[in-house]
Amino acid sequence: MSLWGGVFEKETDEAVKAFSSSINVDSRLWAADIRGSIAHAKMLAKQNILKPEDAAAIERGLLEIAEEIKAGTWTFDPKAEDVHGEIEDRLFKKVGDAAKRMHTARSRNDQVGTSTRLFAAGEISALCADLKQLQAELTTQAAQHTATVMPGMTHLQHAQPVSLAHHLLAYFWMFQRDVERLEQLLPRVLSMPLGSAALAGTGFPIDREQTKNELGFAKVTENSLDAVSDRDYVIEFLSDASMIMMHLSRFCEELILWSTPEFGFVQLGDEVTTGSSIMPQKKNPDVAELIRGRVGRVYGALMGALTMMKGLPLSYNRDMQEDKIHLFEGLDTVRSCTRLMTLMIAKADWKPAAMEASLSGDFSNATDVADDLVEKGLPFREAHEVVGLLVKWCIKNGRKLEELSVTELKAQHPLLDEKTRAKLPHKTVMGARRSAGGTAPEAVLTQLSQAKKLLR
Ligand code: ARG
Repeated sequence: MSLWGGVFEKETDEAVKAFSSSINVDSRLWAADIRGSIAHAKMLAKQNILKPEDAAAIERGLLEIAEEIKAGTWTFDPKAEDVHGEIEDRLFKKVGDAAKRMHTARSRNDQVGTSTRLFAAGEISALCADLKQLQAELTTQAAQHTATVMPGMTHLQHAQPVSLAHHLLAYFWMFQRDVERLEQLLPRVLSMPLGSAALAGTGFPIDREQTKNELGFAKVTENSLDAVSDRDYVIEFLSDASMIMMHLSRFCEELILWSTPEFGFVQLGDEVTTGSSIMPQKKNPDVAELIRGRVGRVYGALMGALTMMKGLPLSYNRDMQEDKIHLFEGLDTVRSCTRLMTLMIAKADWKPAAMEASLSGDFSNATDVADDLVEKGLPFREAHEVVGLLVKWCIKNGRKLEELSVTELKAQHPLLDEKTRAKLPHKTVMGARRSAGGTAPEAVLTQLSQAKKLLR
């Protein structure tokens, strides 16, 4: 049963069929397509547009098809045009003429949008759950490391010491914004185009509220032209997904650096590293590198979707069939990368001793010497100058700031004393930053409880 044969006199060229078929991409929409069709048929029957026995046959047939697909007893013809036509075709073979009535007051244009949105909404919710798992893992690890001191960096140079917990939780908040963005996107995804038909609506007395409620959409679309040609939700999702990938990639970059012998801050688990076929000593951070590398797929999908839509006149155009390639690429990549990140963090063996050792003599306690002078009455700019000279003196003489004696300190500036000296150990420096959102253990504990509250 062709979906549109009537007006044609010649068969579609085989090359055109192959070129335009989307079934190998959109077959994963089958469950959403079946749900949408059942809701549509029920509504048509309630509105006396379809006989109740036809609606019942359609529902029964579609449910059977769903069972067959799940059991693998019926598979899609890879040469079919798309999943929607293929399921309708199968339904016709099962229930006969009732199948031909299912498409009343509907077009593939509103059907495709309805299926894609239902599918995307489910996947986006699942992605939120994946992200929350990652966040939960971060809080678990952070809870064990509020006292683990490590270099906090700017410009990849030692700046001021922070705790490992504080560093890990920085990612918690990035992923929190990612989850919030997705949650804010969901109502726009769940805007139902069904009932817009091809582009202009329908003359049949349909009840869109009923199908909306049946399918769990948040609202029905207000304009049929917009409804069948809107792919903003795909682009928005891919933009959100790009941001998630960017966050994951930054984290991966740090893990790759930290697992080098030069840093030695972490040993990644055997479960998530791979060896070399020639160098027996190697444990490579391939998972982190692949996540970092796969960012390109998602950015590419975003650019692909944006470019696909640019310049399209209203309303539906076949260009839009490409949306699913980009959407699925984005969804699959971001979900698998998020889950692998969680695994990698769960298997990470942090090395607090190496982190602390890297701080020795790094002058990341210099700000605290300046703060000490400010507390003793020196203007900050002047204190900054004094400490700059002090650091220069230390470098020249091969000394570590935290190892200077009180006498040596005093020789550099009369206001430097025992009180100054007591502030110099890196853990003390970290512990001093108690401002809200700061790295001191008590501030991080507050942060941790805020984080955990969001996960509940
Ligand atoms: N597979 C197509 C898509 O996803 C179906 C829409 C076909 N509509 C049409 N007017 N040719 O866009």
